[in-house]
Amino acid sequence: MSGYYEKTCTAPVNIAIIKYWGKRDVSLNLPTNSSLSVTLSQDNLQSKTTIRADPSFSKTRLWLNGIEEDVSANKRMQTCIKEARRLRSLYEQQLLRDGNSDVVPLAEYNLHICSENNFPTAAGLASSASGFACLVYTLAQLYSLPNSTSELSLIARQGSGSACRSLFGGFVAWEMGVNYDGSDSIAVQIADEHHWPELVALICVVSDAKKTVGSTAGMQSTVKTSPLLKERIEQVVPKRMEEMVKAIKNKDFNMFAEITMRDSNQFHAVCLDSFPPIFYLNDISRAIIKLVNEYNAISSDYKAAYTFDAGPNAVIYTLRENVDELAGLVKRYFMGEERGQIPSSFRVDAVPILEKGSVRHIIKTTVGDGPRIIEDGLLNEEGMPK
Ligand code: DP6
Repeated sequence: MSGYYEKTCTAPVNIAIIKYWGKRDVSLNLPTNSSLSVTLSQDNLQSKTTIRADPSFSKTRLWLNGIEEDVSANKRMQTCIKEARRLRSLYEQQLLRDGNSDVVPLAEYNLHICSENNFPTAAGLASSASGFACLVYTLAQLYSLPNSTSELSLIARQGSGSACRSLFGGFVAWEMGVNYDGSDSIAVQIADEHHWPELVALICVVSDAKKTVGSTAGMQSTVKTSPLLKERIEQVVPKRMEEMVKAIKNKDFNMFAEITMRDSNQFHAVCLDSFPPIFYLNDISRAIIKLVNEYNAISSDYKAAYTFDAGPNAVIYTLRENVDELAGLVKRYFMGEERGQIPSSFRVDAVPILEKGSVRHIIKTTVGDGPRIIEDGLLNEEGMPK
């Protein structure tokens, strides 16, 4: 047997509208509550990964955004590879049992893994989600795994919790599950990417700075010290999950917007309730909240909904008809641009005008599809990054 096997895939970013915050098992990434997210279009944000399996490789190597990383130092990466190999071995055994004589023992080959994001890592834009989803999806393609996407989500989850949701397009729930081994803690699709085409996301990039407290450390601190978290996971989230599924199915933007904003607020409230407190929002984030609130005040229906992850960047969900008006307001108040009409009843002085560059840029994007298989790989003939 000679030659190599290679696959290249891309995977999307997802932004939660019911937040995952808290683990009941750190090594398996089992959450303390279910969560729900919107998968964003890969035209704007994606991870891309090429994986080659070659019997001549002396060891498994990994390059992330052009820099070689030590795989043995990356426990979560190792877990994902180990789990995918385990499924491949089972599949190979099955093929042999079924009488196939030409089964390639891919599970035994070392790998060269090369992965890139088309956006800055650790800027609070969920690069771990798209990155691990892409790793697991590409491994599954390379190994021709017969498993369902939800089964693959069990592996992606162990790389990074939120990564399990990036294996699907559209609207995705991560069901927390109850089993101690995590076998029922999976991602499921609520609606696909064509379901609600009017929904648009404006990502306001506030800062490229690395986040101060990483998700795992932050969650651990919240689980240990926040009395408010108990109320959130037992009383609040279960109800919100049900309501949000309904809002999505009915394309009810009012309900969608209110739950999204309340859940972002509560996630940051449990961060503040941690001891010592964890701060992810800054003055610019808070001014964005103010702007969205004022924008919503001009009509009886909600027109926009903000949400913030573990960093100061805002994602504002809105409907297509409002996008230009809303983007115009963000540009006027936070980017030093005198553009666009101010809506007639908008309280012009209620929002502070911040210095130019407070929001560095806006990424306008839509709901998108799940991982894709593509041709154009990241490795050259020798199996090294191009
Ligand atoms: C605030 O999935 O990055 O974005 O499981 O430790 O890798 P790990 O955490 P991660 O946490 C994401 C937290 C969040 C909310 C969310 O995406 O649901």
